[in-house]
Amino acid sequence: MEDVCVIGAGSTKYGKLEDSLADITVQSSASAIESAGIEPKEIKAGYISNVFGVADKQVHLGPVVMSNLGIPERPSLSIESACGSGSVSFREAFANVAAGFYDAVLVTGVEKVTHTGTEWTTTYFSYCSDFFYEGQAGASFPGLFASMARAYLAEFGATEEDFAMVAVKNHDNGLLNPKAHLRKKITVDDVMRSPVVASPLKLYDCCPFSDGASSVILCSKKFAQEHGGDYIKVTGSGRGGSPAALQGRERITTIPSTKIAADAAYRMAGITPRDIDFAEVHDCFTIAEVVDSEDLGFFEKGQGYRAARENRTARDGDIPINPSGGLKSKGHPIGATGVGQVVEVYEQLTGKAGQRNLKNVSTGLTHNFGATGASCAVHIFESV
Ligand SMILES: CC(C)(COP(=O)(O)OP(=O)(O)OC[C@H]1O[C@@H](n2cnc3c(N)ncnc32)[C@H](O)[C@@H]1OP(=O)(O)O)[C@@H](O)C(=O)NCCC(=O)NCCS
Repeated sequence: MEDVCVIGAGSTKYGKLEDSLADITVQSSASAIESAGIEPKEIKAGYISNVFGVADKQVHLGPVVMSNLGIPERPSLSIESACGSGSVSFREAFANVAAGFYDAVLVTGVEKVTHTGTEWTTTYFSYCSDFFYEGQAGASFPGLFASMARAYLAEFGATEEDFAMVAVKNHDNGLLNPKAHLRKKITVDDVMRSPVVASPLKLYDCCPFSDGASSVILCSKKFAQEHGGDYIKVTGSGRGGSPAALQGRERITTIPSTKIAADAAYRMAGITPRDIDFAEVHDCFTIAEVVDSEDLGFFEKGQGYRAARENRTARDGDIPINPSGGLKSKGHPIGATGVGQVVEVYEQLTGKAGQRNLKNVSTGLTHNFGATGASCAVHIFESV
């Protein structure tokens, strides 16, 4: 296998965007190419993740992006894996560079849905669940994660205030991120008093619906060395799956696909969770971050809520989680999220994260899943 590196990264702002889906895809892709300091023609293939292109009248985005970049002859692959599309796309790109098929590729994730409104977006998103058992029965994602939250509260004695701590921390982090969707300081009281969406989850326990695009350039180590820009290494890559519907799982206070993907990534990187300096994890709802922090091995099962309560996951804690603001504050344009996490890790490890740059970090992890964790990918990165 070739050693694989990330040599450039770029992103649009996340939030409610006016430009078209195709336009933000191209803007983000071009910014990653510029960040890598290379010419578009040096890109040998494109991997484009998107879920609801149909909502902005553009599917089969790959050739559209490549054409707009002036490289229409380059092959591309359009990938959908619900909210985990970005990391699956990254994984496919990683595998192809590692196998030696291409020496430099573009990975772009994108979503544009806010113009459809909450009712439509909620309905569209429910198509990503196991629709026969869940979406069709009226269980939207807030409802499904609320079920997990209720089970967690009952099993471990956590409180709703503990979940609120996750939102407060991620909003604090998002304040430092100029590209974040929700840049607003909030308190535990604000979370507790916000409207109930699906009990026990309240407005501030939920990520918003966001538009946005994120891109990275993956390449072989040889390509990175020859091009001279800042790069980081991809040292671990793992994927996993879980039963699609929550009812198919023995326990809903853990996500099996996270554990499978994380084990594979740690094994490939030859490290343990203790070696991770910071992580970008899938906090679509506050309960998700608590569960992720346990499934990724940062804390024992049933202790993630205590870690949140004790600020152990804050910027200055033992293991900073979601320094970008996470899905909660930075936003969750579902096709882009997994790639956006890699953008954050690239910027953190190359010292380009501005005022949110963490000190003394050399190993970062990304964790991104689709639906309630039916599919998942975990990646590990190290600075050079
Ligand atoms: C929580 C949710 C229902 C709110 O939708 P809504 O009630 O239609 O909210 P609106 O878009 O009308 O926004 C109302 C206000 O709340 C704010 N807001 C919306 N969603 C927010 C969120 N998740 N967190 C904090 N504030 C939010 C808006 O900025 C707006 O503030 P303003 O009045 O100051 O401008 C919606 O964001 C949601 O379903 N989120 C989950 C998305 C999801 O399931 N993703 C997939 C995960 S697997």
